[in-house]
Amino acid sequence: MSAPTAQAADNGAARRSSPAERGATPSFPRDFVWGTATSAYQVEGAVGEDGRGPSIWDSFTHTQGTIEDRSNGDVADDHYHRYKDDVRLMKALGTKAYRFSIAWPRIFPDGSGAPNGKGLDFYNRLTDELLANGIEPFATLYHWDLPQALQDRFGGWQARDTAKAFADYAGYVTERLSDRVKHFFTINECSRLVHLGHRLGIDAPGLKLPQGQQNQVRHHVALGHGLAVQAIRSRARRGVKVGPAENMVVCIPAIDTVENVHSAEIATRELNAGYLTPMLEGRYTESYLADAGRDAPHYTAEDLRIIASPIDFLGLNIYKPDHYVVAADNPRGFALAPFPASFPHMEPSWLMVGPEAMYWAPRHAARLWGVKSIYVTENGTSGTDAPDADGNIYDVDRIMYLRNYLLHLQRATSEGIPIAGYFLWSLLDNFEWADGYQKRFGLYRVDFDTQRRTPKLSAAFYRETISRIAVA
Ligand code: NOJ
Repeated sequence: MSAPTAQAADNGAARRSSPAERGATPSFPRDFVWGTATSAYQVEGAVGEDGRGPSIWDSFTHTQGTIEDRSNGDVADDHYHRYKDDVRLMKALGTKAYRFSIAWPRIFPDGSGAPNGKGLDFYNRLTDELLANGIEPFATLYHWDLPQALQDRFGGWQARDTAKAFADYAGYVTERLSDRVKHFFTINECSRLVHLGHRLGIDAPGLKLPQGQQNQVRHHVALGHGLAVQAIRSRARRGVKVGPAENMVVCIPAIDTVENVHSAEIATRELNAGYLTPMLEGRYTESYLADAGRDAPHYTAEDLRIIASPIDFLGLNIYKPDHYVVAADNPRGFALAPFPASFPHMEPSWLMVGPEAMYWAPRHAARLWGVKSIYVTENGTSGTDAPDADGNIYDVDRIMYLRNYLLHLQRATSEGIPIAGYFLWSLLDNFEWADGYQKRFGLYRVDFDTQRRTPKLSAAFYRETISRIAVA
């Protein structure tokens, strides 16, 4: 393993250009939090160790035909054993925060019931190591690895019981860790876990439910978030902060005119009507319910109050623009401009290039819902990342992507949009769900045969950006 002071990471980074050479470089707020992110199943490995129970992702990856390269997370990055080395890599980048997720089946192997102390110990060790190195832990409570026991017992998120079990688990974990971990995210990307896991069958648990049942799952997931917020408030130490980490549908005004911006705001509310709108407004929109018709979820007024339990911040995973919006004189008040076939994308065909998403997503959240604190909980891209003849990984495509997204992030902070931090996805190449290990998102390349970590050129780019508090 080599630190980013070696090899590719240092190319061109040794001598800093002076402010005069750079012109008047706009900077980020001094206390802006710079970090990296991973999730348990994607990096930890050690799936059978220290009493961890199976998750739906273990079952899914061991089912034939589910994962592109027939791989699984059994070993992944072996982060469970190599976390100390990985913390050193974070430190070498100059990051001051790490967003990781806690594997529910390590804590409650059976989904609920008796907690497994050895499972919790791993997160105690990780937390202590981070703090000893000046890196603040930000923990996500659910990044899709539902205990298989809950899927077997009552169909996982198809049942309200899972939302309740999630809250119990969230309360327990935060009670134990909140003396040191001060920021918790409830659920990572509610919308993807429902859409890919329960509608398209691409993610675990691999279901293709009819519309009405999908809507019910969506409601239970949102309810799980709200119940967890309440459990954390009652069991964690005072001062602990909590919020979701959602991949908001990002609506960009095709041209920045007052009319288009207004339409993009209407579209944002409607197209996020399954999660963010009820979390932040305490209601489903009329069009969401009308469009669902007989398939609308069953819920009570009390459910909506729970879903809208006050949060301390909003986490946003921002990768791509979802829609370009133009003002329209129709009952909905907006029209979507479809992506032409020629629209550019990054290595994954879904990752349309749209750096302005980094500006509009937080701006809509702040303007529409009055959100007072936002973390960009993920942003990044995969690339081919093949080592060059000299051994270096010149991932200038990733640098191009990050530089442009960060410029728009800077634009947002300079306008006073309350963004407190940014977590780059990802620290390491890792298990990219149904794509297996074929899609590499890391700042560090991982050789999965040897577990060797090698910094890509983008690691130096990120380190420079952090040290200058300006886009390098
Ligand atoms: C969002 C997910 O939270 C993360 O798990 C995934 O690896 C990245 N997107 C990249 O697809």
